[in-house]
Amino acid sequence: MIRKAVLPVAGLGTRMLPVTKVVPKELLNIIDRPTIEYVVDEVIASGIDTLIFIISQGKEKILEYFNLDLGLRTFLKERKKLDLLKKVEEVENKVKNLISVIQKIPEGLGQAVLMAEKVVGNEPFAVLLGDDLVDAKEPCLKQMIHFHLKYGGNIVAVEEVPLEDISKYGIIEGEKIEERIIKVKNVVEKPSLEEAPSNLAIIGRYIFQPVIFEYLKRIKKSVGGEYQLTDAIQLMIEEGHEVYAYLFEGKRFDTGNKKGFFRTVLHYAQKDEELKEILQEFCQLNVFS
Ligand code: G1P
Repeated sequence: MIRKAVLPVAGLGTRMLPVTKVVPKELLNIIDRPTIEYVVDEVIASGIDTLIFIISQGKEKILEYFNLDLGLRTFLKERKKLDLLKKVEEVENKVKNLISVIQKIPEGLGQAVLMAEKVVGNEPFAVLLGDDLVDAKEPCLKQMIHFHLKYGGNIVAVEEVPLEDISKYGIIEGEKIEERIIKVKNVVEKPSLEEAPSNLAIIGRYIFQPVIFEYLKRIKKSVGGEYQLTDAIQLMIEEGHEVYAYLFEGKRFDTGNKKGFFRTVLHYAQKDEELKEILQEFCQLNVFS
């Protein structure tokens, strides 16, 4: 049973500067909801009700978004804005158990996940990165939980990426054991094209056994001068722990850069009847003008 999900959201969001000077990148909106809400929805739809946010100074607004705002509720009630009240309540009732841990000096994803050790305790848990949204019939994490029940061990979600993108990701090497499942032999963080063992990139979805914490304590800073989660996974494999890669079903969006963010907005706009019309109108006008 996976009961807890860790969401590291302490990063500075430098790729989205200058807006991220004042707005956490996780709160930038895809249509009318912040990016992070899509990830939270995936967690909840996967049957997990305890969310552990790893935040840093300036990121408290992310928690506030999911927290109760009684003042706003009263205001909307008094003004009889019941449809808006419903929307606010829906967000505020979403997360049953919300826990936050402060990462004082952000020194990488590996360190961020380690911050969750005490709260996670001795049980398997999920990690989801807020930059990566996956639109899928069955939530990506739920698909992973299904295979976790079958194989146990640790699971990372992967997808094939174009060669020019390989150096942006953790890349795996392994052996296919069934449709969509690969037993991982090696992982390497942001390799060059020459070093990369494949084009299978880890996306921001993981299920770990609590033993990962021991490995996170042993790794040293590496790529980018940071503690890399990928290094702990590699060490874990070297010492005999099982790690599987799962080729998930669905479409993934990287919202952490300008182009990816725009692509995500367009994707969700064309899924919305009202906005789809505007999008079509816009495209036609610009094709024929
Ligand atoms: C992180 C991980 C990387 C993974 C990627 C997925 O990198 O370190 O292994 O492939 O997320 O989005 P970041 O995007 O934080 O540089």
